[in-house]
Amino acid sequence: MPAERVAAFAPGRVNLIGEHTDYNGGLALPFAIAEGVTVRAYAQEGGSRSRPTIEAHASDLGERDEFVPGDAAAAGGWRAFVRGAAAELARAGAPLRGARLEISGNVPRGAGLSSSAALEVALCLALIAIGGAQDDGAALERMDIARLCARVENDWVGAHTGMLDQIASLYGAPATALCIDFAALTVDPVPLALGGWRLAILDSGDRHTHAGSGYNERRAECARACELLGIDSLRDADAESIARLPEPLRLRAEHVLGENERVLAAVAALSAGEPETLGRLLDASHASLRDLYEVSTPAVEAAVERLRRAGASGARMVGGGFGGSILGLFAGDVPIPAGGYEVRAGPGAHLLAA
Ligand code: GLA
Repeated sequence: MPAERVAAFAPGRVNLIGEHTDYNGGLALPFAIAEGVTVRAYAQEGGSRSRPTIEAHASDLGERDEFVPGDAAAAGGWRAFVRGAAAELARAGAPLRGARLEISGNVPRGAGLSSSAALEVALCLALIAIGGAQDDGAALERMDIARLCARVENDWVGAHTGMLDQIASLYGAPATALCIDFAALTVDPVPLALGGWRLAILDSGDRHTHAGSGYNERRAECARACELLGIDSLRDADAESIARLPEPLRLRAEHVLGENERVLAAVAALSAGEPETLGRLLDASHASLRDLYEVSTPAVEAAVERLRRAGASGARMVGGGFGGSILGLFAGDVPIPAGGYEVRAGPGAHLLAA
């Protein structure tokens, strides 16, 4: 018997390093954070099993929506995520059921901490559980859910993002970073042991939306670089061939190749217990995102400077850029400056006691 009420939590993420590599078949090293989105689902009459009605409430915004998955037209804002998640689940054959959804969360929106993926993943887990998918053997694997959420983001929200955020939210674990290889689609847990050093977040104050920023343009530039090089993904490019690319495509590809190397170096630094090396890699990643990938803003630069002046051993923007949050690495005896807060790796998406 499917449950009459369920609740699902999905976390946001911080990407330690490996930015704009996911849609280039590269490497990244994110971790799930404590902040996230909770979706409570209550089974409800209204609509039939084949045409269930979904009623959704965004508690933090005081707004509501009501629709039939599959029939629902595209919508803007948070409704795009809910309609998209339900429609994509229906398309994937997951049994849906009439339900009222209560959505709440504490990941700041547009701050580069992946509030979008937290929302998509929590919605999917809640809709799958209230639909009773596990009961009739139609359970989706976590990687299928990540793909499905990426389709919501790409086709319903209009942001041509990769799968970094969704995989981090679904596979996160306490005290663990995830080394993701986006070509092989493998996820390797890496102990996030910093020996008393801490990671902190400072919001730059600049808000961004991937659908509206230069994000889609960067992705298109990488696709164009691949076309010119006759390869499917920048993972297959080498330094010699990218040197012949026209500007700014050469710069973009150089960032991606260098960033993949930095992810491997960061995994090695963590295993060797060398936080100073990790700090230098964060700085190098930021410089590359600013100078080669060109996704920084004056507010982002000011926030990076603030963390460095406060004694961070490394600092860089996290997420897609064009605003959002800055990550800093602090030695145990250096206080985190006002406005910043410590982040730790927490559990991945899961069902809660409803
Ligand atoms: C955003 C996107 C991710 C990824 C990062 C940049 O967070 O959602 O898919 O591309 O930007 O690394």
